[in-house]
Order: sequence, then C-alpha cells, then structure tokens
Amino acid sequence: MGQREETVIRDKMSWWVEASSDYDFAQRLAETEDWRSVHGWRYHIKSFKEKFPDEVPKRADANELIPLHWDGSWKELARRLNKQRPDITVGAWEKRIENAKYRGAITQKSFTHFETVHLDSPEKDIEQLWKQVEDTTRESLLAHQDSRWAEVSFNKGGYIGVAFASDQHIGNSYTDHEQMRRDAELIAATDNLFVIHGGDFVDNFMVDKAKPAMRQRIPPSVQWKLAYHYLNLFDEKIVAVVAGNHDLWTSGLTDFDPLGQILKEKGILYHSNELNIKLLIGSQAYYVSVRHQRRGNSALHPARVVKKMWEDGESDFDIGVIGHNHVPVIEPFTRHGRERWAIRPGSYKIIDGYGETLGFTRDRPTCPMVILSPTERSIQVFTELRDGVAALEALNDKC
Ligand SMILES: [Fe+2]
Ligand SMILES: [Fe+2]
Repeated sequence: MGQREETVIRDKMSWWVEASSDYDFAQRLAETEDWRSVHGWRYHIKSFKEKFPDEVPKRADANELIPLHWDGSWKELARRLNKQRPDITVGAWEKRIENAKYRGAITQKSFTHFETVHLDSPEKDIEQLWKQVEDTTRESLLAHQDSRWAEVSFNKGGYIGVAFASDQHIGNSYTDHEQMRRDAELIAATDNLFVIHGGDFVDNFMVDKAKPAMRQRIPPSVQWKLAYHYLNLFDEKIVAVVAGNHDLWTSGLTDFDPLGQILKEKGILYHSNELNIKLLIGSQAYYVSVRHQRRGNSALHPARVVKKMWEDGESDFDIGVIGHNHVPVIEPFTRHGRERWAIRPGSYKIIDGYGETLGFTRDRPTCPMVILSPTERSIQVFTELRDGVAALEALNDKC
C-alpha cells in the first residue's frame, strides 16, 4: 500500500464514516480518485484497516438500522436493510431480524388477517433467553423434586400411631361430618397419635363442574372456612398433607391454592401431589408415601394402584397411602422380603349419588391407623381408629 492511497483515505475519512459499508466507501473513492478501480480501493481500504486499526472509523451497529415496528414481510425488510448496508447479505439480515424478533427489538408485525405483538424483554437475545430458561427450570425442577421428600423425627418415646384420613368432602350433604369431627378430636386427645391427610378436604364444585356446583348447599368459601376449623381440631397432630383433586380445582382455575395457603400459615408439611416421608421413631425408620390419586386405579382392586406405586414409583416405602377411592381397603404385600402395606383410607362422604346408580352401596366412614414400634421394625395396622387407639394406649402403658 502506497503513501498516496493512505493520504487519500485519511483525507476522505468523513466519507468512510458516512458510508454504509467499506464497499460503499470504495465506490465513492473510485468516482473521484479514478486512478484506482473500486476493487483497487477495496484492497487498499483493507490494507489500511490492518495497518492502522485505531484510525478506522467506528460505524454504528448495523442492528440499530432494524426498525422497532415493521408491518411488511420479513423478506422485504431484509432487502431494504441490505440496500442500506450491502456488506450484509439479505440472508444475514434475515438472521439478524430473527434475533431481533426474539429479543423483542421488533415489537409488531401485521399479517393480512391479523396482527401480532411481541412483549419479550428487549434486552435479551435468544441465547440469553435460553440460558435464563435453563436456570429457572433447573431451579424449579430441583425445588419440585425436593419438596416431595421429607424426614420427620418424633421426639416422643414409645410407640407412635399414625392415622390416615382422606376425602372429607366437607360441605357435601352425604358426608358424615359428625364422625369426622369425633375422629379429629380423638386424634388430638390421644397421646403419641398423629395424622397424615390424603386430600379432598372440600367438595369445592366450581364453574366448570356446573351441575354439582348448582346442587351444593354450602358454597366453596364456607367449605374452606369449615375445612380451616376441621384442621384446627387436630391441634398440632398433623404430620403432613397432600391435596386432592377437589382441593386443587381452585388453584387450577384461579392460580390460588387455599389449602396450600392454610398449611403454609400453620407450617405443616404439604405437597399438592405426593409426599415421601421418612418417619424416624426411636431407633427405627419407616417410609410412608402418600398421594391423593395415581394412574392405574382399579375400582375392583383398589389396593393394586398402591403396589403399582411401589413398583414404578420412586420410593421403597413400607406404607403406601392413596386417597380418592371412597371405598376403604387395607392390604399387606411383600416386596424384597419385607411386609408392606397398601392403604386406601376411604371417605367420610358415605353416599355417592352417581355410585348408587352404578350399584355401589354406601361406604362406612373410616380413618385407618398404624402403630409403629420404636425398637424393632413392626407395623400394626387397624382398619378402625378406635381399635388402634386402644392398642396404642395399651402398648405405651406397658412401656
Ligand atoms: Fe374424594
Ligand atoms: Fe378425589
């Protein structure tokens, strides 16, 4: 590169600043300094850039040429931008436009029949956005995963009783509210007896369940009030709670979970779907898994779904509890040489209008319970709460 070319380029620096590209600058130089061709000037501009990088004018970022609003087609915009900056090909402009769309730099586009508006954060490009999604989902996955597992250590010595109550359906005309209250009061009053709840505290029929919603005599707001009172009856004896499908209808429709809110206030262990709890009692550890419902339910063999949960679930539990089915069933089964228990607590709603039409008889309100030994692996199971209470008191009196 000669001295003469360097001088011309320095003299015409303002043209370089204004030019949309180096090619554009070379074209203008070739018009006035025609002793060199356009290609010749391009070669010298390139050499000048390598030799004096500090003197090269800083041109505005090409992306700033992308308009905030564009009503035409993307191809048309790419062609228009290519005219302004021919050093960037139409294809490259299309890619830049795509990125701009993702980071919200272009906020509006009109099609023939409709108009779309992007409200993405304008600062993020697609890679940043992806990373942010990766981080957030990693956190949510871990939080969700962790929140299904818990450990509960009992400070009290002696045998510990755990009752399983489910499907209260508070507010339903066919619910045995009296029995429900008596059971709660008995659990609260019995030493070393606790409870784990399996969901469907309230009937909670809502707009998308129009027929039963019309028939319910007590509205959901009052049902929740009664449920709050019912939970208070247990005093501090509630170990854990999972929600039922009826409880979750509110959060499904409104994004507000009344049950979750109540239990958060009380500091009680809660999950909307599943809890796997390690109960530490004396020198022993017992594993309990609780869900309200699970795929693979069978009306004829209600215990089967619990065994299925042991087989393809994540916990090697000793006691599996699944609510939702209003017929109480308790069944032992053996896995890895150890006796396990499948418990379906049944319901306090003892008549099911729909069930009657199918030939199901009325159920009995139950609240099964287990007695867990603190010194050896021993699980005694009772279908009747009162029988369990009598056994628990007898065992602890002997201790
Ligand atoms: Fe239920
Ligand atoms: Fe249910």
